[in-house]
Amino acid sequence: MESGAQRNAVIDTKLDIVPIDLKKVGLQEGFLKDEVAVVTGSASNVGLGYARAIAAAGGKVVITDINEAAGKEAERVINAENGADCALFVQCDVTSESDVKNLAKKAFGKFGKVDILINNAMNKALNGAIWSSPVSDLEKSFAIAARGTFLTIKEFLPNMLERGHGTILYSSTQFHYAPPMIGGGIYCAGKAAATSITMSLANEVNGTGVHVFCLAPAGVAREGKPTPAPAPVIPLPEPAEKPKRMGMPGFEGAVPPEACAVAMLYCLANAEKLHGSGILVSEALTAMDYPYPVPETVNRSGGARKLSQMELTLALCNMGPGFTG
Ligand SMILES: NC(=O)c1ccc[n+]([C@@H]2O[C@H](COP(=O)([O-])OP(=O)(O)OC[C@H]3O[C@@H](n4cnc5c(N)ncnc54)[C@H](O)[C@@H]3O)[C@@H](O)[C@H]2O)c1
Repeated sequence: MESGAQRNAVIDTKLDIVPIDLKKVGLQEGFLKDEVAVVTGSASNVGLGYARAIAAAGGKVVITDINEAAGKEAERVINAENGADCALFVQCDVTSESDVKNLAKKAFGKFGKVDILINNAMNKALNGAIWSSPVSDLEKSFAIAARGTFLTIKEFLPNMLERGHGTILYSSTQFHYAPPMIGGGIYCAGKAAATSITMSLANEVNGTGVHVFCLAPAGVAREGKPTPAPAPVIPLPEPAEKPKRMGMPGFEGAVPPEACAVAMLYCLANAEKLHGSGILVSEALTAMDYPYPVPETVNRSGGARKLSQMELTLALCNMGPGFTG
């Protein structure tokens, strides 16, 4: 029998997607039944994968993005894949308090509650060298990542606390602080601030039933379409050693958004255990013994090996579960 993902696959779209098949990765279809998620920046790539995966797992999803055309198409596709009224698109600039309030109004109006908040929106163009970037780039980086994360938490957390139930996830670049990057300092400064807000929140809501953690994608893009990183305006010296290629061990090329998305679902299923942790998508995929590439466009060279219990613990809680209360 065909899987749900194959049965409902939507190929007539501009969004460049492939089916998400939960059965192949051991996740139960319907395990997010009755859950409602809001995913910011979910009109493309990582966020779109997250929104599609949540719907594929039986949840309702509010797609929200600054890009109206892509967001509407994402709504159409997710409803076609999973059934009408499963997805709602609300255009929102996460830096705008009134937009985020409107997002909350529409989300609560349509679905009555929000159980999962994924702060994922960001702008890759804010990627220039520190000394040559305008101050407005730094302000935008903080505005999208840190202010956006703060504003959405303020809108969606109170209802989660009232019900003693919820998950808040930040699409971090690393944990606590982001690593130094050539041409990524401005981008990572905003990401680090948002990560700090998220990790502090985990401490603040410890024991309330709301689980908070960071999940860092790495090298997620459709193969053959690497995510563009504009070169710094001032050329920098070549590093003595070429930086290691980012991506998931065992894969040639980029990690597909659908693989990143099932890793996120695995983390949602383990949210209580991951509270206060920072996880890499590649670690989650390895921990769940991700069996093979989802799309045919990805070549697997080695194969992720199964981790020992100790490695698994370290991988899933690489910042430690923390917050003993
Ligand atoms: N792709 C990766 O490998 C990778 C690696 C590390 C971290 N991340 C993080 O994951 C997240 C998603 O990455 P991606 O590669 O899918 O990025 P992307 O640029 O492809 O998608 C980001 C989305 O956010 C939206 N957006 C931008 N500004 C916004 C705003 N002000 N309000 C609302 N939406 C806005 C964009 O329209 C876009 O749809 C980012 O936060 C990024 O830092 C990604």
